[in-house]
Amino acid sequence: MGIVFKEETEQFYLSTVHTSYIIELLAGKIPLHAYWGKRLDDMPPLISWGGVAESRLPICDVNCPPPFQSSNSLPLEFPVYGTGDMREPAFCVLYENGSRVTVLEYCEHKIYTGKPHLPGLPSSYSEDGDVQTLEIVLADHVTGLCVTLSYSVFENKDVITRSVRVKNNGAGTVRIEKLASASFDSYDADFDVLHLHGDWAREFHIERRPVQYGVMHFDSKCGKSGHLANPAAAVLERNADETVGDVYGFGLIYSGNFDISVEKNSLGSVRTMIGINSFDFSWKLKHGESFQSPEAVLVYSDSGLGTMSRRFHSFYRENLCRGIYKNKERPVLINNWEATYFDFTESRLLDIAKAAKQIGIDMFVLDDGWFGKRNSADSSLGDWFCNYKKLPDGLAGLGKKLSDVGLKFGIWMEPEMISPDSDLYRNHPDWCIHINGRNRNLSRNQLILDLSRQDVCDYITDTVSGILSAENISYVKWDMNRCFSDIGSALLPADRQRELPHRYVLGLYSILEELTLRFPYVLFENCSSGGGRYDPGMLYYMPQTWCSDDSDALERMYIQYGASLFYPASTMGAHVSVCPNHQVGRTTPLKMRGDAALLGVLGYEIDLSCSSRQELELMAQQISFYKKYRNVTARGDMYRLCSPFKESFAAWQFISDDSETVLLFTFVLNGRPAEVPKRVTLQALELKEYYVNENDNRRYSGEFLMNVGLTYRRDEDYISNITVLKKC
Ligand code: DGJ
Repeated sequence: MGIVFKEETEQFYLSTVHTSYIIELLAGKIPLHAYWGKRLDDMPPLISWGGVAESRLPICDVNCPPPFQSSNSLPLEFPVYGTGDMREPAFCVLYENGSRVTVLEYCEHKIYTGKPHLPGLPSSYSEDGDVQTLEIVLADHVTGLCVTLSYSVFENKDVITRSVRVKNNGAGTVRIEKLASASFDSYDADFDVLHLHGDWAREFHIERRPVQYGVMHFDSKCGKSGHLANPAAAVLERNADETVGDVYGFGLIYSGNFDISVEKNSLGSVRTMIGINSFDFSWKLKHGESFQSPEAVLVYSDSGLGTMSRRFHSFYRENLCRGIYKNKERPVLINNWEATYFDFTESRLLDIAKAAKQIGIDMFVLDDGWFGKRNSADSSLGDWFCNYKKLPDGLAGLGKKLSDVGLKFGIWMEPEMISPDSDLYRNHPDWCIHINGRNRNLSRNQLILDLSRQDVCDYITDTVSGILSAENISYVKWDMNRCFSDIGSALLPADRQRELPHRYVLGLYSILEELTLRFPYVLFENCSSGGGRYDPGMLYYMPQTWCSDDSDALERMYIQYGASLFYPASTMGAHVSVCPNHQVGRTTPLKMRGDAALLGVLGYEIDLSCSSRQELELMAQQISFYKKYRNVTARGDMYRLCSPFKESFAAWQFISDDSETVLLFTFVLNGRPAEVPKRVTLQALELKEYYVNENDNRRYSGEFLMNVGLTYRRDEDYISNITVLKKC
């Protein structure tokens, strides 16, 4: 049983195979966070064993029964503003009388098998019924506000998800000013926090730092989850690493402005919260209306970051991604962006396509520049009709010719955007996000369509549907290339303008829900100048993401290593491009570029019609290796063995579903002369089993590979290897 309520202690036990999460009602009223960690089937009430400290603060908190003077000392399950807790609140509303104080008390709960979808939002699900849900209803008896805390327990996945629904049962209108999806008060304070920071072409860099007194925020204010931070973080014991230590991982199924805060208070506890960013957010809730928070994903691991990552990976793969491509092998694609940029003709594309077919590529993706009069990033977003000067027979003609070559056809679109130089803008100047009377700031020469408007969402859905219905298109790269500015909507009243960022995300989700329903056979790849919106919300609609515009193999080590903390290889678009690399000017061997891309979903972004015979042969080998082993990386368990953030060497290991095949990827970042070989020890093999190295037929026991390991030269830059070990 995933969820049990013990009446005698008023405790809710949320149990997965290896973990427990326990909530306790204080005096039958206030939900406290009692425990989150290794599985625990019985614990005494917090007060009886001193699990909550008495505060010595001279502040009396009416909401807090004796012997506590203040809820500031309590591990609160859902902290609200204004009742004595002086840490960051998870919830704050403004009432019509100007008050911002809410007192929430337990009313009732229900436990049931299954899990409802969250209205208007992407959310996790289970196809095999191994999920139970607990809803705890809290109410403010003065204002009539009602808050439902939802917990879904994915027992076999060791994952718990949380979300919050607010309903206004009071007479007046309230304004939600802050609503976190999950809040976690730990007993201990000796933690580090690990988060992902970055920028364009430098996404997912790992930073780990001690949690110290005060509050840290990792957030996005740019309208999308963004390059600068990611809605994912871990709070972990100081001694925790890849294989040991307590780790508490958090993810948010959301693609807009988010906030992760980590706070250490004077009493030595740490509060971690994740949810919509309260910055520039407020939501008006009239009598009878409800507001649903996005869903947070919580993963505890007692064996370091590796276990945490594998739990996130399997959960996102199987309980978040949807559609026929969820488990289906993805096509190997050739994308013309770095090969031609905007400068292409149909015959140039077909030359690339023919060469691609020869080496085993499955699909041709036509990137930016096929529509309107777009020959640079200056115009035509919104004018999604084919440029017949470039493609004389239109998209249909190109699709037909590609099909004759034996390739599927995919296209790039950026449907959320509008160029000032476009017919769409000339016809609908108020359709973009803007503030009347103010300059409309351009970024990449474009503006953002206002997806809080139903007419704009309908236009996008209809336009994309028109293209996908008319042409034989089996893939869309859905791009989004700028951040918000001048945030305003022509239709929203003044007192709802701060709803725009969240309404935008809801509009986007409604479009994607409709399109994925109408075109279930189309593979959508998420892109936002690379990994600028690589988040669980988008994974619900699009099972793969173009991870970064940086295709340099060395940079990819950091980017993909960081992304792998939370996101599985099956979601990570990785392409081989030309050298010198277009982003950093570096020259790396084609072998390393291929090996790095084989860690994700393989593609090429190169003018193959100019590649040499040797290069084409090597690429053909990479593709056939990928096709043979892609299920190991896409569906197997991943182990990070050596971190490029710590040394000049990176190594990953994957074990297939059936434990028969092991792939070991190694990369030298910066070779040094006379350097002794690097010894890489593997993980999670069967000690007494034997494994044969397919490259040289040597046999090794599992215990040898795990204790002694294999050695790799590191006396030269950019040496890479993929070692295939088969159980024998
Ligand atoms: C940004 C993407 O990340 C690139 O891969 C490419 O599609 C360009 N946009 C096209 O404008």
